[in-house]
Amino acid sequence: MTSLGPDDDSAWASVAEHWQIRPDTTYLNHGSFGPPPAAVRQARRRWIEAFERQPMDAFIRQLEPAWIAARDRLASFVGASGSNLIFVENATVGMNIVADSFPLSAGDEVILTDHEYGAVQRIWGRACGKAGATVRTAVLPLPLRSAEETVAAIFAEATQRTRLVVVSHITSPTAVILPVQRICDEARRRGIAIAIDAPHALAQAHLAIDSLGCDFAAASCHKWLSAPFGSGFLYVATRHQPLVRPPVLSWGRIPPTRIESWSDEFVWAGTRDNSAYLAVPAAIEFLEGVGLDAFRARTHWLARYARRKLVEMTGLEPIVPDDAAWYGSMAHVPLPPPAQDGTRSVPATSRADDGCPVSNPLQHTIWRELAIEVPIIEFRGTRYIRVSCHLYNNTEQIDRLVSGLRELLAKGH
Ligand SMILES: Cc1ncc(COP(=O)(O)O)c(C=O)c1O
Repeated sequence: MTSLGPDDDSAWASVAEHWQIRPDTTYLNHGSFGPPPAAVRQARRRWIEAFERQPMDAFIRQLEPAWIAARDRLASFVGASGSNLIFVENATVGMNIVADSFPLSAGDEVILTDHEYGAVQRIWGRACGKAGATVRTAVLPLPLRSAEETVAAIFAEATQRTRLVVVSHITSPTAVILPVQRICDEARRRGIAIAIDAPHALAQAHLAIDSLGCDFAAASCHKWLSAPFGSGFLYVATRHQPLVRPPVLSWGRIPPTRIESWSDEFVWAGTRDNSAYLAVPAAIEFLEGVGLDAFRARTHWLARYARRKLVEMTGLEPIVPDDAAWYGSMAHVPLPPPAQDGTRSVPATSRADDGCPVSNPLQHTIWRELAIEVPIIEFRGTRYIRVSCHLYNNTEQIDRLVSGLRELLAKGH
């Protein structure tokens, strides 16, 4: 457990060394894809070797107890009983399982906020489309200033036909911590089920899922927990478990025995690579070794530093107050619009959309010219920068981002 001060870059440098980010890259996008530290990569590699060197022993004797032990370790980390949790590849798979299982009929309604992740909007659009149900989008007030207003905006969309609210704990396009406890309380008071989209909350926020009172929660472990890519979880409250079925039906448990619990059917999904799941305890151990409070204090301190520097440069106010109740390890700051093409001082040939799948031209330019990975996000007609701060980041990287961005904006990008 570390006692490093959150603002002490040189003290945190030894923790940063646990990551091997490609040396040509400044990585300020842990929130999209979070790379694992060396201890997690090694733990995964050990499992891959165990499967590849003696498959019978690893698949038939070791996998099931290791899967259950790893699942239980993750469950206790997020404040849930192991019997309510299963491993899934990522939050996307988890949310698809909820959408495929949750009973919707023609005329039913599902509420999402306008800050939900694009793929989650697609998942519920399809599920509602199939059932003849409707997605209602709650437009949250901007700027966000009060938990009461936020909860009120969500439930202003509720009707007698509302069956489910789907809400992020921490939003993707806006990096806002939503007041999930109050949202869950209000949903329960109204008899509406609630699914939490929680990939950013895992490690970044304190989770106590059983006591939150939600019906479902889906998360990816590769983000703030820095577990391997391909590890995530789905939480299902006891009352819904009989309805939840695996998308890939296989033996359930090996050797095939009577299925005793909903989660049994998810343990064995055919012969596949389980190493990402089995290395999740190594990620928890790593972060607990650093100290969860120290991790949150350091990454919030960096996010706040980034936010202040960016606001100083642009003079534009973020959408949430400067308060750890509203944002954690990600700074989210509005940027001025790009200059019209006629006034842009960059030649047309250096426009940043030369076949790159990243859709925002400024994001691509930042990568190409500054070698910094940081997302630029369009939200309600304004562009924002979202700066993720993990334990391998520091103030020098943020200063470099701010000074490089200042020059790009001055050129009209
Ligand atoms: C709020 C939110 N939900 C869901 C996802 C999907 O996560 P994954 O791609 O790991 O399934 C993301 C990814 O960025 C996200 O930010």
